[in-house]
Formats: sequence, C-alpha cells, structure tokens
Amino acid sequence: MKRSASCGQVTLDLVGQSVTVMGWVHRRRDHGGLVFVDVRDAQGWVQVVFNRQIAAAAYELAERLRVEYVVAISGVVNRRETGRENPRIATGLVEIAGQRLEILNEARTPPLHIADQGEADEAVRLRYRYLDLRRPEMYANLLLRHRTFKTIRDFFDAQGFLEVETPCLTRSTPEGARDYLVPSRLQPGYFYALPQSPQLFKQLLMVSGVDRYVQLARCFRDEDLRADRQPEFTQLDIEMAFVDEEDIFGLLEQLFVHLYRQVLNVEITRPFPRLTYQEAMTRYGTDKPDLRYGLPIADLSGILGEAGFKVFRTAVASGGVVRALQVPGAAGLSRRELDELNQQTLELGAAGLTWLTYTEQGVRSPAAKSLGEDTLAKVIEALGLNAGDLALFAAGPAALVARVLGQLRVRLAGQLGLVQPGSWKFVWITHFPLLEYSEEEGKFTAAHHPFTSPRPEDAGLLETDPGAVRARAYDLVLDGVELASGSIRIHRRELQERVFRALGIEKDEAERRFGFLLEAFEYGTPPHGGIAFGLDRVVMMMAGCESIREVIAFPKTSSAACPLTGAPTGVDPRQLQELQIQPVRRS
Ligand code: AMO
Repeated sequence: MKRSASCGQVTLDLVGQSVTVMGWVHRRRDHGGLVFVDVRDAQGWVQVVFNRQIAAAAYELAERLRVEYVVAISGVVNRRETGRENPRIATGLVEIAGQRLEILNEARTPPLHIADQGEADEAVRLRYRYLDLRRPEMYANLLLRHRTFKTIRDFFDAQGFLEVETPCLTRSTPEGARDYLVPSRLQPGYFYALPQSPQLFKQLLMVSGVDRYVQLARCFRDEDLRADRQPEFTQLDIEMAFVDEEDIFGLLEQLFVHLYRQVLNVEITRPFPRLTYQEAMTRYGTDKPDLRYGLPIADLSGILGEAGFKVFRTAVASGGVVRALQVPGAAGLSRRELDELNQQTLELGAAGLTWLTYTEQGVRSPAAKSLGEDTLAKVIEALGLNAGDLALFAAGPAALVARVLGQLRVRLAGQLGLVQPGSWKFVWITHFPLLEYSEEEGKFTAAHHPFTSPRPEDAGLLETDPGAVRARAYDLVLDGVELASGSIRIHRRELQERVFRALGIEKDEAERRFGFLLEAFEYGTPPHGGIAFGLDRVVMMMAGCESIREVIAFPKTSSAACPLTGAPTGVDPRQLQELQIQPVRRS
C-alpha cells in the first residue's frame, strides 16, 4: 500500500475518491458490525469506518486494533451522515469507508493518553517525550516554533543581515550565570565554557565589518530553573554597526508586526510604548510590567511623609517611600479578603499593608483617623479615586515597596480576572542602571554586561556616584515577560577602562577574561549595539503556554535533568582518565 493522502487532508474535496492513509490509531469504537477508527498523522486525524457487511476481512482486523498501532488503510471517502458530523475539525464532515487495512506495527499501551489533552503528569510526559510529542497540541507547538524561526530568518535575510555561527566550545562569556564547562582532552586540566550567549563573538564580528549580524544561537547557562528558564535555550541574537537605540527599536518592532501577522494573523500596533526603568519600577513595581491591565501604583511620599500616620512618616523619614496601588471597583472586598492581602504582603517581606476604600458613604481606612480629612482628600485627588475604588498602601525602602506592590498587582489582576488574553502588550524598558551594588560581593556588578555603554549625560558620575549612572540598555517586555535585552556597546578603550574600574575589574583580570576582545577593539571598532531575544519565550507567548518547556522538543526538568535519556550520567572511568579528571565524590 502506498500513502496517497495525509489524514488531515481528507476533507470534502476528496468525497467519492479512493485514498490510502497511514498513521496511528488515535481512538477506536466498536458499534456491533461497525468499527470506527480515528487515524492520526502529523496533519490531523480522520475517521474510518469498517463495516462487517462490506469488508469482512478488514473489519475483523480492525477489531484487533488498539490505540497507537501503526496502520495503513485504503477506502473511499464519504460524506458523513447528518448528525454525525464534527464541525470542529477539518476532516469532520467526511469519513473513509475502510476496505483494506494493514497493521504496520503494533504498540504497547502508552503510559500517557495521546488523544486526551494534558492529563499526564509532567514527569511522565518528559520521560516519554516522543509519545507526548504525538499529541496534536504538542505538534502544533513544534510547528509554530518552526514557522516562527523561518519567518524570522526570512525577515532578517530581506533586511540584509548575515547569519553567522559562533563557537559552542569557547571561553567564559560575560552574562553572569554559572558556566557549563567542557574538559579538554588535549590540554588536560583546561576547560572550554559553553557560551551563555554569543556576546563576545558578535562584537568581534562588528570589528570584522559584518555590519548586520544575526544568529539563532544555542546558549547554555547553569542557573536556577523556572518556567521561563532552561539550561540550554535559543536566542535570536542581533548586532549592528553604526546604529543607535532608535534603529534597533524600529527594526524589532517591524519584525514583531511581521511575525505576528505572518504566523498568528494578528495585527499588533507600533510604535511600542516605552517606559524608563525608574518609571516602570515606580508605577508597576517591576522592570517587566504587564500592561494588559491598569492597577497603577503612585508614589505618595510627598503627601504622606509628613502626615499623621506614624508608619508612613517613619518610612519616609528614614529615606523610604509610601506608595499606593489603586484597584478600581474593589471597595467591596471583605475584611477577610483585605486581611488575606495583608498576609500576602507580609509573606513578600513588607511590614504590612494599609487599605483605604472610597465609596459614596465616604472613606474607610484603619489610617483614616490619624491622617485627617485634609490629607485624605489630597490622597483621593492624587490617586484620582472614584467611588467604589480601593487603594492599598505600603511603606518602606523603595525597592521593597516596589517589589511588594508589584507582585500584589499581578496577583490581584489574576484574582479579579483583569487579564485580557490575546491583547499583546509590548513595552520597551529603557535607561536601566549601568551597575548594581552586590552586597554579597561587596562591589558593583554590571546590570547587563560590562560592555554596555553608559548614557553620555551620566558618564561623568562613573567615578563619583557609580550607582546613579544609567545605561544605554533596553529590554523588550511582553505581557509581563522579559523577551529580550540589549544595549549600545562601549567601543572606545578609554571608556571601557573606566567602566571596568567602576566594576572593580583590575587591568590584569580584564586582560585575562576579555583581553582578546579589548585587543580587537584597538583595530578600528565601529560604534555598535544589539539585542538578544529568548526565542523559546517568544514562541511560548505566541502559543499561549505557561512554560517554555511546552515549546521545546526535549526540555530538561527543574533539576536540569533529562528523564528521557537520563542525562546527566556518570561516565566511563576511562573517559575520565583520558581527561585526567578525578571526581571528588558522586552522590
Ligand atoms: P540576556 O542575558 O538578558 O542578554 O539574555 C537575553 C534573553 O535571553 C533569554 N534568556 C533565557 N531564556 C531561556 N532560558 C534561560 N536560561 C534564559 N536566559 C536568558 C531572555 C533574555 O531576555 N548577550 C546579551 C544580549 C545583548 O546584549 O545583546 C544577553 O544574552 O529572554
């Protein structure tokens, strides 16, 4: 038998024709004298009916079929009887009257249901990933990923970009996670590092005159895993010479309009809004704000810092802030619900939450008396509260208040059902701090990476107030998820040295870690900048999934293991001997 159509292609156009399909038994139902078999391949599934009266041999074989057997079936395509149609699938108006059936292969009972959606435990799904990928939703994710990658490649090709592959066996890159190391056999005791990103190579390619570089690059980071983090992932990595932020934003906005139109048939509007890091932190309590809903946060330190409520006064007097999260229409929350919110803020590390409701009956708040009418009126005006609104106040150090109210904002949006699916709210975050003070290391570290350029207006502060220097760095955020990060780079040695000094990177350390790049920079480096997208995250968002594991064919678990292959594994002692490596201990 020779396949003449794929299962998903058997639609009304083929009625009256003979077809041969091949695939897996998706479901089977016996109806005394009739056996219904849904046959599935990559394109979809089609119903086949075997009738004892018409094709006795095929019918008898069909009775033996079990799910996931591999079969070849020939028959004539008929229109289904009225009332037996399934308008939800492309093949739902037809069925094949099975005449010949061949079992190409039998199958053990699968440990997970292919035909039912997402019931299985993730551990089982990952252990039997090849079966999990048979599920149509998973195939759809693989297809979406493929289309996304292809559309991206075509877009950059049309824009004059060159895709260049960079090495995976290399040396440490500057993203700041832990490296995966690969021992060298030829130089015992020495190690390659797998790249955390192609950062150094893409900057070298700018020195090479490549001008517009792109790569769909595998990256490796040994870090704590979460729903949107994997130890190996794929970046859409971009670097361009002679550009500024506007060129990069413009190009990538064009890319996303094109991608969403081509792949999802969705129109997204540009330009994307922009927020500075400071605005994002103050108004949304995070540098990855979800703009699908309102719930703004306002700083009221000015009004409340000197008012009669002690908690607020003390916070402001000790250099902190008082901020309020505004929840329209939530004045009706019960005392118990408000207590729960308070409990949540305590868990998030804040000293507590003060609430205020504004209704036709007036203001209610535990702080109302201490604040007094004048101050309350000012607060209501500053927040623009309407009757029926709730405001939640937190006081303390700015970073803590931002984090607490930011997380509360996200939770409340979920609880109140404010998240509009499919509204795609992109936002650029700009003006990130160049450096972050690390208590652990007792010095400043690069907020992005050490090659990020300071903003020219702030560069003078590098030696006097390094924490205040803002960077020419930007992120692209979608619905509360960081999709991409990038920056305009430093291309002059003198500025690079000043930044290294602010980072406490001594000359010899800089030489040791990045000497080859610094040397390259002395041979005529163009001004340049770039960005990198987490492509798994891009596809995850397009697919509407909660985790990047859903859009990666063979992902790892949260302990960076692969239940399918069993990786990581111990190795043959001979291999270790060749590498001159002796494990201290294996648990
Ligand atoms: P950064 O480290 O911010 O920047 O990474 C860029 C983007 O890569 C994605 N990403 C990840 N995705 C899945 N799993 C992970 N473990 C993971 N880590 C990061 C995120 C992130 O926004 N070289 C710079 C870019 C540049 O400056 O051009 C870099 O790698 O979506």
